[in-house]
Formats: sequence, C-alpha cells, structure tokens
Amino acid sequence: MMRVVSIVGARPQFVKAAMVGKVFAAIQALDEILVHTGQHYDADMSEVFFRQLDIKPPHYNLGVKATLHGAMTGRMLEQVEKVLLKERPELVVVYGDTNSTLAGALAATKLHIPIAHVEAGVRSSNRKMPEEINRIVTDHVSDILLAPTRAAVRNLQAEGVPAHKVHMVGDVMLDAVRTFRPRARRPVIAGCRQFEINSPLALLTIHRAENTGTPQRLKHIIDAVCALDKQLKIIFPVHPRTRKMIDSTKWLKDGIFANKNITLSQPLGYLELLYVLERCALVFTDSGGIQKEAYFFNKPCVTLREDTEWEELVAMGVNVLAGADKEKIRAAYKALANHRFQCDGSLYGKGRAAENIARVIMDEFGINN
Ligand code: UD1
Repeated sequence: MMRVVSIVGARPQFVKAAMVGKVFAAIQALDEILVHTGQHYDADMSEVFFRQLDIKPPHYNLGVKATLHGAMTGRMLEQVEKVLLKERPELVVVYGDTNSTLAGALAATKLHIPIAHVEAGVRSSNRKMPEEINRIVTDHVSDILLAPTRAAVRNLQAEGVPAHKVHMVGDVMLDAVRTFRPRARRPVIAGCRQFEINSPLALLTIHRAENTGTPQRLKHIIDAVCALDKQLKIIFPVHPRTRKMIDSTKWLKDGIFANKNITLSQPLGYLELLYVLERCALVFTDSGGIQKEAYFFNKPCVTLREDTEWEELVAMGVNVLAGADKEKIRAAYKALANHRFQCDGSLYGKGRAAENIARVIMDEFGINN
C-alpha cells in the first residue's frame, strides 16, 4: 500500500484536493492521509468546503493560526514535520501557492520525501507577492511538477527544471467546476434582492495583501466599481482579512455603505459561488482562482491587480488588468461588459486533470490499479 500525505490549509486548496482525493480514493493500492494546517479556520472559509465538496475529514488539523508569514510558515513547518515523521509517507502532495504549500514542501524535502506539486509552474513575475515566492520555492524542491497549462510548463523549462519532472495535466479547478456546477445553489444573503431583479450582476472579491493593506486603496477600488453603472448590482462576499479592515475603519465602512448598488455578504460556499458565477455578467477580482473560474463560466474578468499568473486570459482579451486605478477599471469595464466568448479545452485541459495527476503518480511509483 502506497501512503500519500496531502497537505491543505486555505480555501482554494480544499477545492483542488477534493478533486484529487476523489480519484485517489478509487485507487486500492493508495492510502491518502489528509493534513489541514488550519490556515483558514472560519466555518465559511473551511468547513463548508469539506461539506459541500464531500471531502473526508482531515486526519490531522494542525490548528496553526498566525498573521505574520514567518510565524505562520514556521509553525506549520514544525507541525507538518511531526506528522511526516510519524506517518512516513512515500509521497507528499501540495497544492497551489499558499503558506501551507510552502511549509508542506519544506518539511517533506528536508526529510527526503518526494513531493508532487499540483499547479506547478504558475508565475505572476511579481516577487513582492508571497504567493510567488511560495510557488517558486515549492517548484524547485518538488519531484513531480503537475502543470495546469502549457505556459506553466514553459515557465519551468525557463527556470531550468528538468523536463522529466514536469507533466502537463490540465487544471483541477476546471474538474471541480464541471463536477459541481449542476449543484450550484443560490446564496442566502440578508436583505439581498439582486437575484430576483433583472438588472446585470457583478461579482466582486478583494483579499490580496496589496489591496487590503490600506483602507484608502480598498475604498478607492470599491468606489470605482460602484461608480461604473447604476444599473449594475454588485455582490461582494467579504474575505475575513478584508472584513477586519472594513470593520475597524468607520469612514471606510460608512463610505462603502453609501454606495446603493453593492451588497456585502459573508464568504460564499463553493456551490453558492458557482451560482453567482453562472448568474453574473462579469467579475471584478484580485483572486487567482476566481479569474480562471470566471473564464470557465464564459464571464469576462477585470483583475484588480497589476499582474496576473494567468497571462493567457489577458492575451485572449477576456481578462483585463486594472490594478486599483479608477480610469483603468472604467476602461476595462467598457471593453469587457458586452464581450462574449466560449471557454474551450485549449488552455486548461478538458476537466480530467485529477485523473491525469493520479496516472502520473501511479506511473512514477509503478502502481497498477
Ligand atoms: C491565503 C493565501 C492566498 C489565497 C487565499 C485564499 C498565502 C500567503 N495566501 O490568503 O494565496 O489566495 O488564502 O483565500 O498563503 N482569517 C480569518 N479567518 C479565516 C482565515 C483567515 O479571520 O478563516 C484571517 C487571518 O487571521 C489573517 C487574514 O484573514 O489575518 C488573512 O489570512 P491568511 O491565511 O494569512 O491569508 P489569505 O489572505 O486568506
């Protein structure tokens, strides 16, 4: 029996690990042990994903809660190492680009345990982003690099990663959308009539450190989006980091609520997010994952950052980078509001990435199912 430890901790990883875990569960010769670092701990950031995506409860929850990156990553590293020493897996699987990814990869490599990285090779070329550092370090200590796109494969080649370690498997987030779209569920948001009325709807999400670092920048973005079109109704599920900033700054809170066309909500569950993506006209976000999900739902995306790890969407003209600049946000909205397109299998695969990942791992370890 091959023993695999999968390490997750933050919201986007639950989605990815759910898909891979389902395929792993069907392989008799493989035993998956799930470790949750605790990075995301609110019920609507964590537990709801386990429930909605049918993820088995984690075997370990390390309960690491910290704000500073060094403290968070250090505590995770220490706790993950203990688990790995106890479980002695043949392989560690890490996902994406969070501090949990980095801690898992560092703990495993120091113990000489092979690492498979799901979503390898993705780059924004912005080294000020903690996620970019996490991606680069993780890729360079990994043994099986599971790239979602051809662009990611090229990035790894350019950094000198040996070709035999790199496998283009497609994007597991597309697998998740394909699987769960039929179960999309209308969110219940107090006082919100947005889904009943027939005006255009936009999804807004903001959580990146660069946008939530000062209340001025956050207000600037929200005001710019709200001023685009009085008809446009905006749903804004608020990440805990952003919520803290709003709740602690009275003028910011009052300023946001002065806009009549925006509705704030708790973070949405995955099925509720899919409903909004299905129903909306376009998306404003600084999230990496939601940029792709917008594309999977054929929705244009205004990205509230200066750079993106999904350059191929910008090249296709379905995603425009606008930063926090009011004029750029307005120009992007004008360019994209009526843009129609169809997501096809050319960029992110055909929704079978999790199966591809399992096949690569089984081949590497010589397992027959
Ligand atoms: C993390 C990831 C990011 C990913 C995002 C998805 C890193 C460096 N960043 O960013 O790549 O896109 O998750 O959401 O790993 N908090 C709560 N409740 C929670 C979770 C967090 O209150 O359930 C608070 C934390 O205490 C912290 C803040 O929110 O003060 C930010 O959380 P953190 O996990 O540091 O980073 P994210 O912004 O969520």
